[in-house]
Amino acid sequence: MADKIRFCIVGFGNIGRRHAEHILDNQDTTLVAVCDVNTSVQDKLPAGTLFYTDLHDMLANTETDVLCVCTPNYLHEAHTISGLEAGLHTVVEKPMAISVASCDRMIATAAKTGKSIFAVKQNRYNPPVQEVKKLMAANELGKIYMMQVNCFWNRGEAYYAGSDWRGKKEKDGGCLFTQFSHFVDILYYLNGTVISAEGLVQNFAHLHNTEVEDTGSFVLKAANNAIINFNFTTCAYERNMEGSITIFAEKGTVKIGGQYLNTIEYQQLGAATLPPINITAKANDYGLYQGSMSNHDKVIQNVVNVLYHGHAIMTSADEGREVVRIIEQMYSGATHA
Ligand SMILES: NC(=O)c1ccc[n+]([C@@H]2O[C@H](COP(=O)([O-])OP(=O)(O)OC[C@H]3O[C@@H](n4cnc5c(N)ncnc54)[C@H](O)[C@@H]3O)[C@@H](O)[C@H]2O)c1
Repeated sequence: MADKIRFCIVGFGNIGRRHAEHILDNQDTTLVAVCDVNTSVQDKLPAGTLFYTDLHDMLANTETDVLCVCTPNYLHEAHTISGLEAGLHTVVEKPMAISVASCDRMIATAAKTGKSIFAVKQNRYNPPVQEVKKLMAANELGKIYMMQVNCFWNRGEAYYAGSDWRGKKEKDGGCLFTQFSHFVDILYYLNGTVISAEGLVQNFAHLHNTEVEDTGSFVLKAANNAIINFNFTTCAYERNMEGSITIFAEKGTVKIGGQYLNTIEYQQLGAATLPPINITAKANDYGLYQGSMSNHDKVIQNVVNVLYHGHAIMTSADEGREVVRIIEQMYSGATHA
């Protein structure tokens, strides 16, 4: 491997550009090439970066170590497999794919090629999430009784206009994959997996521009016996309102809140205390809408730490797959209201 880890990116839209920024900012990484079918994105290409419109061309004609897969959800499987088969490690944006079967094929290819898949779940790095993770890992909350996950965001006309994949059943998969998979991931990261799911979903306000639900309410049972309420909507009036997880446990109540799990909004704990955290300026801002916390610098640093320093992958392919499995379980337990 060269001194600096050499990256290439497929998909140079909102999140591909974010990957590029952080690859260029990291002293141990360099960006060699970008591929996008849309040639107009070349305007935003960093100086000195090669540009391709075909992934196989890019893989055949460049020497790189890691491929970031930043294309729409339905392409994650094919693009990750192409990268692995070309001998590259792959960083795949969330969701890892839109079916467990796709994830299984990706994992099998990683095993066959001996290359790694890094699933992007950057909200794991949010300081409030890390604080609560430590508390739960040390069993400071005791038995977990109930968790309430509220995802109340706004996705308006501009978000869907001009996109050929957002809101399309076969290409996007649904809100749990595209908007709220981070929340499913944090639920899983903190509390372990889910064994059953039942819910109602409905498309109230996006019938004209999406083929999927815009609102849902679920009751899940976790493997550790906790009851989980999971509520989501992209219909919060005019702007994102809340993205929170509240935990009711034997030894405390804690709420990770804000719009994107960026604050410790409430704590009533026995022995432990959490530092007051209120991070207000770190959402991924895409101009027309705001997403999750901007931690992609840490995603790139994790690749460096794994490849150079033997650290563990922050979110492995198996964990990325488990999030997809939980989402599949939620959709298969959902009634369309
Ligand atoms: N981690 C996060 O917080 C986060 C935030 C936003 C998006 N995402 C994920 O990143 C992915 C991309 O989202 P986005 O908002 O950047 O979408 P986008 O539509 O802005 O960008 C996707 C890009 O991929 C290109 N593309 C499509 N098909 C291609 C192909 N066959 N080969 C090469 N390029 C191709 C498109 O031309 C476009 O430029 C999605 O899976 C999304 O869920 C993750």
